[in-house]
Amino acid sequence: MRLFSKKSVAVAALLTSTSVVSAADVEVLHWWTSGGEAAALNVLKDDLSGQGIGWQDMPVAGGGGESAMTVLRARVTAGDAPTAVQMLGFDILDWAAEGALANLNDVAAAEGWDAVVPAALQAFAKHDGNWISAPVNVHSTNWVWANKAVLDELGIAQPESWDDFVAAMAAVKASGRTALAHGGQAWQEATMFDGVALSVGGVDFYTKAFIDMDPAALGSDMMKETFDRMATLRSYVDDNFSGRDWNLASAMVINGDAAFQIMGDWAKGEFLNAGKVPNEDFLCFRVPGSAGSVSFNSDQFAMFAVSDAGAQAAQGAMAASIMSPSFQSAFNVVKGSVPARTDVPNDAFDACGKKGMAELAAAADSGSLVGSMAHGHANRAAVKNAIYDVVTAHFNGEYDSATAVEELVTAVELAQ
Ligand code: BGC
Repeated sequence: MRLFSKKSVAVAALLTSTSVVSAADVEVLHWWTSGGEAAALNVLKDDLSGQGIGWQDMPVAGGGGESAMTVLRARVTAGDAPTAVQMLGFDILDWAAEGALANLNDVAAAEGWDAVVPAALQAFAKHDGNWISAPVNVHSTNWVWANKAVLDELGIAQPESWDDFVAAMAAVKASGRTALAHGGQAWQEATMFDGVALSVGGVDFYTKAFIDMDPAALGSDMMKETFDRMATLRSYVDDNFSGRDWNLASAMVINGDAAFQIMGDWAKGEFLNAGKVPNEDFLCFRVPGSAGSVSFNSDQFAMFAVSDAGAQAAQGAMAASIMSPSFQSAFNVVKGSVPARTDVPNDAFDACGKKGMAELAAAADSGSLVGSMAHGHANRAAVKNAIYDVVTAHFNGEYDSATAVEELVTAVELAQ
C-alpha cells in the first residue's frame, strides 16, 4: 500500500535547509511488540518504504512505555537520540520543555493539522504554541473485551452495570473457567484502575483525583470504593496472573480460556490478528458503569532535533505520512485505535472501531473525555508511577483498601 503523496515530498523538502534531499533512514523507538501491534507497525513501515525511507527498528516491550522511556533517557544522555519516538501525553511535553524535540510547524501548516486534530490531542502535541509531535491514533482504556461463545454458552448477557459485571464473573468462575484474564504488571493494573474509577465516580471524580490531584478526591470514599472494586476484580483472576504480558491475557479470551479482559483497545488488534470478528467472536463494551465516559491516550511520534538534513527530511516525511487521512484509516483499522483527526471516514472500521469513533466524538462534545492516568495523559510520569505503585501493591494484597487510599494521598503529594 502506498499512502505517500507528492505533498509530503514538498513538506520534506521544506523541512530541510538544503535543496537536494538525500533519502535517510528513520530510527524509531517504540513499544509495539505484540502480534497485533507488529501488524499495525508494518502499515507504517510499508508506507515509509514506499517513499524510500528506511526503517531502523528500536523496539522496547512494555505497555504504557515505561521501559521505552527509560531506554530513551539513556540514549539521549549518551548523545544518541533516536530520530522518531513513540510517546504518550506528558512525556512529550516534558521532552519538549527540555528543548530536545524538533519543531514540526512547517509540516503541520502545510498539511493543515490545526483544523483537524482535536483540541484534547493538540494539548499534548504542541508546546508553547509549536507542533512538536504527530498523533498517530486515539486509544481508550475503559474497555472490556469478552469471548462471545463463552458468554452464550453460560447464558450471560453483556453486563450493563457493575453489579451485572460481578455477577457475570461469578458465573464464569463457577463454570471452572477464568473470569478475568489479567497480566500482573503495574501498568495493566493501572489500566483497569482508569475504568474502575470512572465506573465509581464518573469524569467528575476522575478529573478531581487524577488530573487536579485534589487530596480530598484522592482520599475520598469513592476512592475507597475504587480500590474495593479492584479487590473484587483480583478475586476473579487466575492463579498465574503475575508478570503475564497483556497480549497473553488477550489470548486467554481469544481462546475461550477466559471470559473477559479489561484493557485498552489495542487488545482489539490481537483479536483481529487472530482472525476474530467483533460481535460474532468477541464483544467490546465500556467497563460497566463507565459508559459515556472515555479515558483516552494518543500515541504520538515525537522527532528528536537532529542537524543532518537528510534525517530532517525523513522526519518531516514520516510526520506528514502519519497525519495523512488514508494512513490514519489504514493504520488504526489494524491497531484497534481510532484516527487522531476528525475528518477520517469510519467506513473501513469494524463495529468496535465505529463505536469507538462515535463514543470519542460524543465524549468530547459532552465534556466526558479525560486523559488516561495509566497511559500518561492525566499527570506527569512521577505522579503516574507513584499511583502505579499503590495500585499494584493493593492489587497484590499488600494494602487493604483503606490503607491504599491513605498511601495514595501521600504518594501523589510527594511525587508532585
Ligand atoms: C500504547 C498502545 C500500546 C499499548 C500496549 C499503550 O501505552 O498507547 O499503542 O498498544 O500501550 O503496548
